[in-house]
Amino acid sequence: NSLKEGKVTWKAPSNIALVKYWGKRPVQIPANPSISFTLDTCATTTSITFKEKDDKEVLSFDLLFEGRPKEDFKPKIQTFLERIETYLPFLKSYHFIIETSNSFPHSSGIASSASGMAALSMCLMDIERQLNPSMEESTFLAKASFLARLGSGSACRSIKGSLVQWGKHMHIPGSSDLYGVPYPFEVNAVFQTYCDTILLVHKGQKQVSSTVGHNLMHNHPYADNRFQQAGTNLNQLKPILASGDLEGFIKLVESEALTLHAMMMTSSPYFILMKPDTLEIINKIWQYREETKIPVCFTLDAGANVHLLYPVAAKEKVQMFIEDELAPHCENGQYIHDKVGSGAIKI
Ligand code: PMV
Repeated sequence: NSLKEGKVTWKAPSNIALVKYWGKRPVQIPANPSISFTLDTCATTTSITFKEKDDKEVLSFDLLFEGRPKEDFKPKIQTFLERIETYLPFLKSYHFIIETSNSFPHSSGIASSASGMAALSMCLMDIERQLNPSMEESTFLAKASFLARLGSGSACRSIKGSLVQWGKHMHIPGSSDLYGVPYPFEVNAVFQTYCDTILLVHKGQKQVSSTVGHNLMHNHPYADNRFQQAGTNLNQLKPILASGDLEGFIKLVESEALTLHAMMMTSSPYFILMKPDTLEIINKIWQYREETKIPVCFTLDAGANVHLLYPVAAKEKVQMFIEDELAPHCENGQYIHDKVGSGAIKI
């Protein structure tokens, strides 16, 4: 081919699941369908500088994280590139310089794997498209999501916005275990501008990685029920999302978050990722909702941090509540205001 060298840059956001993916089988096939809000502020920007090389037998790349060589991230990227090589035959033809940085503070407890793998996949697909200019946009996006999934499951939901569904589901046309798809049904305007403030309760390393957690769903006593429940919850979400039923939304989303953590507490070995301040925050949210009738709710991912979800119309009041009541429960008082976003963009 004629492409000797070049540079591509993409920015991809994180996402927060409403119906949670927890449990998988090889290779990164989800045990149940899930759906997430694509975020906006929390994002990874990645550049790949590529140059054709003589030796086309081996993968070769340098990795810079926030401007500095990052040796400890290299094995993860190496494994990822080896895994996707059959889908991107050009990988061994170039030397890559991969430069990546996050919009959120390093080791803030926010997982960067979703945004990071999505941004990297978009860069690689950009090169793939330069080599195959006739590629359809829909193929480009589906394949980018497919590759991101092979890096980190939930990353496949970070390519597009604003709500992305992943995992085969009989009532969702176009749904697939292999990649995320924009949610195909009506979504009320209230959810298109939803706010998510991430309360950074604990910034340290998690005791149990999500890889280990997913695997503990094998032989889990409640696994089958849980996988079915996720499908049912997706069905129930459909009229909620269409009508803007905030009460229904709150019930479903909080139940999903607590169920995710219940699965962790009932696996063998069992573990707890919530911290005392996680529970303090949850109780304060419930109390605030009860007193003010403002429709705030929480969700959790596989960690101690709390995502506070609320309509943009309530922003001013809720952000005062966060500053006064919730920030004291965050590590160094830290939180990040984010909102529903529209997916990866080329820079
Ligand atoms: O993508 P992974 O393997 O890091 O798993 C993420 C799982 C949860 O964040 C807990 C739920 C989800 O659907 O994102």
